[in-house]
Amino acid sequence: MIDAGALARQSPTAVPKRVLVVGGSQSGQLDRILDRIVAPLGAGGAVSVDRWQLDGFERFPFPWGFWAFLDVFPESVQQDAPPLRSVPPLADDYDLIVLGYQVWFLSPSLPVTAFLDHPAAQRLLAGKPVVAVVACRNMWMGAWQKLRARLVAIGARVVDHVVLVDQGPTLATFITTPRWLLTGRRDPIWGMPAAGVSDAQIEGAARFGEALRLALEVDREQGSAPLLHGLGAVTVEPRLALSERAGARAFGVWSQIVRAVGKAGQRRRRPVLLLFLIYLVLAIVTIVPLSLALQSLLAPLLRKRFDRIRAEFEAPSGSGTERIQSHV
Ligand SMILES: Cc1cc2nc3c(=O)[nH]c(=O)nc-3n(C[C@H](O)[C@H](O)[C@H](O)COP(=O)(O)O)c2cc1C
Repeated sequence: MIDAGALARQSPTAVPKRVLVVGGSQSGQLDRILDRIVAPLGAGGAVSVDRWQLDGFERFPFPWGFWAFLDVFPESVQQDAPPLRSVPPLADDYDLIVLGYQVWFLSPSLPVTAFLDHPAAQRLLAGKPVVAVVACRNMWMGAWQKLRARLVAIGARVVDHVVLVDQGPTLATFITTPRWLLTGRRDPIWGMPAAGVSDAQIEGAARFGEALRLALEVDREQGSAPLLHGLGAVTVEPRLALSERAGARAFGVWSQIVRAVGKAGQRRRRPVLLLFLIYLVLAIVTIVPLSLALQSLLAPLLRKRFDRIRAEFEAPSGSGTERIQSHV
């Protein structure tokens, strides 16, 4: 177990390390999580933190209108985002970049895609260690594959991935999360927990900021090992991988059909978007519960496959919790 006190007593580097924290949020949820990470990271003066608050979220309504919500589906899946409007004044170079993202239709949200497209972002990311942090309902694996592929293509070094998901069971969040997104109401309903990531999880995100500060103080970001192992950074529910894979394939086809019919915002896309919605609802009430139930029944036979999925998606930070005690 790493002793946080011992690490802190090692002589810190003379020049403060520079960290860039990037992200944005519609409801404020992801911003709250990034704030919790930033607070201990910047404490003590060994690390200076700049924030790139992504614009682009305000282009989309919150709470969402019905058509606005459906209309971002094709471009989210095809990662075709409207460009960022502005870039804040930033340093030329950072020692570490923390990138917060949320998932839209099994893909990184459009403002995050716009960030990855921006030449200024690509320049800052190239060759740098990146800690990605996602807060979403609970289907993040496909989005992570897309985001990681983009980061690798840009030349960033993905050192850690932190995953925070909505607090309810999967089937409950199919009701509570869309209700939150479409009405703004996230309170508990019909015996189901409130929508979104729990307050305890959000508060607990401070442990990642503290661990990053301690790692930066002893130059560990320059190595290849994850900085956030042992802190319960990511826990995979392997049974969701199958639904995600099936969903991603269908989303790819549907998104191309909608885009063939019209451009973002055009009314003539609506009939196809409606058909897509019918497919989506049918898939959610049939394929997802059926696949979850079947996989539970066949769990002993699927153990090796589940282990493979866990190994792939819990990398690099892992689900171990052995260091949590020293960071609470
Ligand atoms: C258009 C849209 C599509 C979404 N699709 C997914 C999804 O495929 N998987 C998932 O886990 N969460 C999904 N979410 C939930 C978001 O990832 C996120 O939890 C929520 O929008 C709150 O983010 P915020 O911090 O920007 O308010 C979706 C949200 C929106 C608005």
